[in-house]
Amino acid sequence: MNKDKKILYSGMQATATLQLGNYLGALKNWVNLCDEYECFFGIMDLHSLTVRQNPTEFRQNARKLYALYVAAGLDPEKNCIYYQSHVSGHAELGWILDCFTYMGELNRMTQFKDKSAKHADNINAGLYTYPVLMAADILLYQADVVPVGADQKQHLEITRDIASRFNNIYGDVFTIPEPYIGKTGARIMSLQDPEKKMSKSDENINGTILLLDDRDTVIRKFKKAVTDSDACVRYGEDKPGISNLMNIYSTISKKSIEEIEREFDGKGYGEFKLAVGECVADELDPLQKRYNELMADKTYINNCIKENDDKARYFATKTLRKVQKKVGLTELIR
Ligand code: TRP
Repeated sequence: MNKDKKILYSGMQATATLQLGNYLGALKNWVNLCDEYECFFGIMDLHSLTVRQNPTEFRQNARKLYALYVAAGLDPEKNCIYYQSHVSGHAELGWILDCFTYMGELNRMTQFKDKSAKHADNINAGLYTYPVLMAADILLYQADVVPVGADQKQHLEITRDIASRFNNIYGDVFTIPEPYIGKTGARIMSLQDPEKKMSKSDENINGTILLLDDRDTVIRKFKKAVTDSDACVRYGEDKPGISNLMNIYSTISKKSIEEIEREFDGKGYGEFKLAVGECVADELDPLQKRYNELMADKTYINNCIKENDDKARYFATKTLRKVQKKVGLTELIR
């Protein structure tokens, strides 16, 4: 642990079949931050339990997510990549923080409202206290920065509120985390409906590029991408389909929007879509190769999990013991 570096914390739910939006909007940015920060990346499997899971698939998905983190470039020997459920401090701090969170605050969470509407038959208490567990994740590691997407910003705000409330009563226990907003904040939209965020749960599979889609599938999906009838590769609010493709191309190729406009000046959409498809396929190719190797090498990943679980547990326990003491729980007798 390098004490001079600030601490970064982030994670994804363990159910994620990752798609291009998760990769370009989150994972790839995380990879770029690894040198600058001391990083913790969780496989958020406790959060996934708020929705009913098939146990076998769930376990496999968590493992796949671990391999995808590593395949995307997060080095498990330099960063702490671990399972949330393997560190019991998350649930323990979560409970304590539940007692410092008001129902009125949780009632305002838009994700709770959205998810309740979507899973009307299973509006469980975990779905309701989801943001408090997330606060525990972040505060256990005394994180300075948390890269999150727009949909999680409200959860980071409540984390800050809970932490400040606790600190006001008990002194400086928690670091107040800042959101990290990436430089290339382009939101990746559905290829079939560019007004909607790209999502793995999209009914139209052609709208979403999955990270494990093969080359032909990637190119076919880009060829089918919805555009407009203007036949000019130009960025603009009136051209959401083309602008989305330009964002994708720009993020991967690091070319500016102006450069891309020049590159495809006078060329048709067919040529442009093919170029974007190929550039995405080229980007995913090494990631997929690495992923397949990792999934085949059980021992390597198991060792990484074990070591990083231990490391996470060490830091989490330190904060948890401090909190328990502050609130007046009786210390362990040794
Ligand atoms: N709620 C986040 C999501 O669905 C996942 C998450 C859980 C998380 N705990 C976190 C993200 C802590 C950042 C920090 O995307």
